[in-house]
Amino acid sequence: MVEWTDFERATIQDIFSKMDYEVVGPAALSRCLIVYPWTQRYFGKFGNLYNGAAIMGNPNVAKHGTIILHGLERGVKNMDNIKETYAELSVLHSEKLHVDPDNFKLLSDCLTIVVAAQFGKAFTGEVQAAFQKFMAVVVSSLGRQYH
Ligand code: HEM
Repeated sequence: MVEWTDFERATIQDIFSKMDYEVVGPAALSRCLIVYPWTQRYFGKFGNLYNGAAIMGNPNVAKHGTIILHGLERGVKNMDNIKETYAELSVLHSEKLHVDPDNFKLLSDCLTIVVAAQFGKAFTGEVQAAFQKFMAVVVSSLGRQYH
C-alpha cells in the first residue's frame, strides 16, 4: 500500500477542491491531443481534431476531459485504496479501448502543466511532488490490468 504524509493528503485534497473540472479537464486532454498527436487515434468518433484550435473547441474533447477529472476524483476519495479503485477502468482501457498504457503518463504530464499554470506560485516544488506522486500511483494502477 502507498503511504501518504499528512502534507500529501492535504495537498491532494486541496488541489482537487480548488480545481474547476470543466476547465482543467478539457485543457489537459486538449494539450495531450496536441502535444502527443498519436493519442488522437483513440478519439476517432470525437469528430474534427484537425488542429490545435479545433481540438480546444471540440465539445466532445471538453466533455471527455471533464469525465477524466471525475475519474481522478475517485482516486482522491480513495487514497488508501487506489489500485482497487482503478481496477475496472484499467480493464476497460486495456481490453476494450486498447489504449497504450504509456499514454496515461503523457496525460498526467499535461495535467500537471495545466494545474501548475492555474495555481501559479502556490504550485511549489513540494506541492508538485505530492501531485505527481498521486498521479504516478493512478497511472500505475490504470496500467495494472494490462498483460
Ligand atoms: C474512457 C478515465 C486516460 C482514452 C474513460 C472513462 C473514464 C476514463 C472515467 C469513462 C469510462 C466509462 O465510460 O465507463 C481516465 C483517466 C485517465 C485516462 C482517469 C488518466 C490518466 C486516458 C488516455 C486515453 C484514454 C491517456 C487515450 C490516449 C479513453 C477512451 C475512452 C475513455 C478512448 C472512451 C471514450 C468514449 O467512448 O467516449 N477514461 N482515462 N483515457 N478513455 Fe480514459
